[in-house]
Amino acid sequence: MKNLENKNILIGVTGGIAAYKVVEVASRLKKLGANVKVVMTKSATEFVSPRTFQEITKNAVYVEMFGDAANFNVAHISLADFADLVLVAPATANFLAKSAHGIADDLLTTTILAATAPKIFVPSMNTNMLENPATQDNIKILKQRGIKILEPADGELACGIVGKGRLPEPENICAEIVKFFSTEKILSGKKILVTAGGTLEPIDPVRYIGNRSSGKMGFEIAKAAENFGAEVILIAANTHLELPKNLKFVKVESAVEMREKVLSEFVSVDAVIMSAAVADYRVKNVSSQKIKKSEENLTLELVKNPDILKELGKLKTKQILVGFAAETENLFEYAEKKLAEKNLNFIVANNVSVEGAGFGVDTNIASIISRGGEVENFPLMSKAELAEKIIFKLIEILQGEKS
Ligand SMILES: Cc1cc2nc3c(=O)[nH]c(=O)nc-3n(C[C@H](O)[C@H](O)[C@H](O)COP(=O)(O)O)c2cc1C
Repeated sequence: MKNLENKNILIGVTGGIAAYKVVEVASRLKKLGANVKVVMTKSATEFVSPRTFQEITKNAVYVEMFGDAANFNVAHISLADFADLVLVAPATANFLAKSAHGIADDLLTTTILAATAPKIFVPSMNTNMLENPATQDNIKILKQRGIKILEPADGELACGIVGKGRLPEPENICAEIVKFFSTEKILSGKKILVTAGGTLEPIDPVRYIGNRSSGKMGFEIAKAAENFGAEVILIAANTHLELPKNLKFVKVESAVEMREKVLSEFVSVDAVIMSAAVADYRVKNVSSQKIKKSEENLTLELVKNPDILKELGKLKTKQILVGFAAETENLFEYAEKKLAEKNLNFIVANNVSVEGAGFGVDTNIASIISRGGEVENFPLMSKAELAEKIIFKLIEILQGEKS
């Protein structure tokens, strides 16, 4: 099956030793029906001749920024407009650095800045270059901007050492591209409600009881759902993150307020992903005036907050319900209990006491537990990557319902 028919793919090739492998990537994409154009950096032409890509793609290959003056098409703009997807492979340390900082000093980096199409970069380099904090910071910046970075593979490198930094095999790169196009906008027509952040429970006009949730996980989930074409409503408490574009944002403070907003949207949505850390208790009698320092001890009486997820579990008709279990002990036991008690479709469980997981950080280590006890354990990954896994799971369930 030619699953890439009518797809325009722009491949950027930079000056890495693995450039020769990308000839096979171009060839496979072509065989899958894609229309492929290639832009090479000058360094890349030291490794592979532009003519090779030209013969494979049956298209002109672009290297020069200031090419043929008689051609009235500005190359970087027309190439940027051409692309449904931009793939850069291999992506050198130099290219990643330039791209992370908006440098546009050759045809490829200028085209990247001008292209609005989704982008996949495939870094490949010596392990020390890859692990250098400068490269890692650049990768982080690019990921935060929504560029998909394919993990370099482990193995023997051209420089003779064994380590991480190899270009993944051409068939794996192509598989990612096929996956990208098959899932692109797969959630269009679906409405997804995501909650994020930690609720604040007032004590008096200036004080509150809060928690350490930053809202990062929920924001990444909202972004991922939106990338797959869903209409997203993000209800968030106490976050200071930059707002994702194109979605409906509702700011709340307390658990009671969050419940009210969630319930008002619930009937019209297809799925709810409750990643917010909702306080279990609130102060019974909130003081209307600032409490003055007087007695040695101050006792606050707390009352139980509404259990939003449990309520949704009872109300749900067609909606897929996803919960989070952030625990510090007995993770799976608590998570499975919550899954059943709240009538969820699946639960994302993470032990927030493990380094790299939980509050405030950009990474997470989590497991997805489904109804029926199926468990998927994920290694340490960015919250953006985990968000994508969660959305894939949701897609799987939504598709299962269709068939
Ligand atoms: C033999 C050789 C192999 C190289 N392989 C890589 C590589 O795999 N990854 C990388 O990031 N840089 C590699 N470099 C360094 C880049 O070619 C160099 O940083 C260059 O400036 C990259 O330019 P570009 O990013 O514009 O293509 C290599 C250099 C040489 C001489």
